[in-house]
Amino acid sequence: MTGSSFAAGGVAKGPFLPDVAVVGAGPIGLAIAWRCAVRGLRVAVHDPAPGSGAAHVAAGMLAPVAEAYFGEHELTGLLTASAARWPAFAAELTDAAGADLGYRTDGTLLVGLTADDLAEASRLWGYQQGLGLPVTPLRPSELRDREPALAPRVRGGALAATDHQVDPRRLLPALRIAAERAGVTLVPGAVRRLSDVAADVTVVAAGCGAAALTGLPVRPVKGQVLRLRAPGGGAPGFRHVIRGYADGEHVYLVPRDSGEVVVGATVEERADLVVSAGAVLRLLRAAVDLMPELVEYDLVETLAGRRPGTPDNAPILGPLPGRPDVLAATGHHRHGIVLTPVTADLIADLIVTGRPDPLLAPFTPDRFGPVPAGVTSGRQQPTAEEESWN
Ligand code: GLY
Repeated sequence: MTGSSFAAGGVAKGPFLPDVAVVGAGPIGLAIAWRCAVRGLRVAVHDPAPGSGAAHVAAGMLAPVAEAYFGEHELTGLLTASAARWPAFAAELTDAAGADLGYRTDGTLLVGLTADDLAEASRLWGYQQGLGLPVTPLRPSELRDREPALAPRVRGGALAATDHQVDPRRLLPALRIAAERAGVTLVPGAVRRLSDVAADVTVVAAGCGAAALTGLPVRPVKGQVLRLRAPGGGAPGFRHVIRGYADGEHVYLVPRDSGEVVVGATVEERADLVVSAGAVLRLLRAAVDLMPELVEYDLVETLAGRRPGTPDNAPILGPLPGRPDVLAATGHHRHGIVLTPVTADLIADLIVTGRPDPLLAPFTPDRFGPVPAGVTSGRQQPTAEEESWN
């Protein structure tokens, strides 16, 4: 692939034909559009219901350390690179949109309720420490000095001081404002096939819907999430993000200044969006076991979303095999929010310069082999299973 084969902006066009068409107005699509527009490209973003996808459900943890899992070295590298971009990205976006993102840097506590839970948790953070990531084990008394509201029977934990959070429900509108101020056009309406859009370069940032558009192996991974609210309009009684094991159940608690606490999440190999009583029960029980005061909170929302999963849990970033004019930016699975800055920067760079950053190398679409012939020829038809990408 050479730069001249698809770098956008080189062809004179009529007033309405964009250099870049982005399919999907989630955080990834909007951030790519914003980054391209500030670099002088004409950009259209296509989405029938902007901001209604997985990011609306997501908790917004920026957790390259806590989410560094066994055997995912390359993904961990990308998570770390993107998290390092978050402070500047948040500052620039706050300025561009004139909006507060709910970006907070209080850090994350990793905790285990029972001795077995602590053994499981510490096995993972031992691995993370081995990678040189900043995880500091804490005695129970040190944990409670940091968060007195933790249950007295929590056996131990660790601090991931550099794992932070942002509020996706503030991030999405901010990205939309920044993108529109930079000249991006939002086009309502579903894109059923790549030939529905016209531009030098098409970016497919359509989450799970990328599968039907591109043939890439992106599958829905259901996550059920609860939202609680502190009583009396106050802030939650804890500041850190809490990630813990409680009697074998994994749960995270994300406190916001607004009084909201996001409690998540199930990880299920299914595509429906049903909220089940059993999932609510397990999440609430684990949450209250770790943070007893939550039993007094209001339960204000139960919701399920579809994470765009891939065979290796890593995103798919770059040109489709045989279609250098079509870039994938999908498959972010559990990490869409933290990976937004690096994805936007690398994809915008690739479009502007035609040169892929070395960081992209492990994540290219061709690692999964050829895409279906219909995609390569630009004439693919939607399958019977095709789902809306929202
Ligand atoms: N990253 C959190 C989740 O996917 O539930």
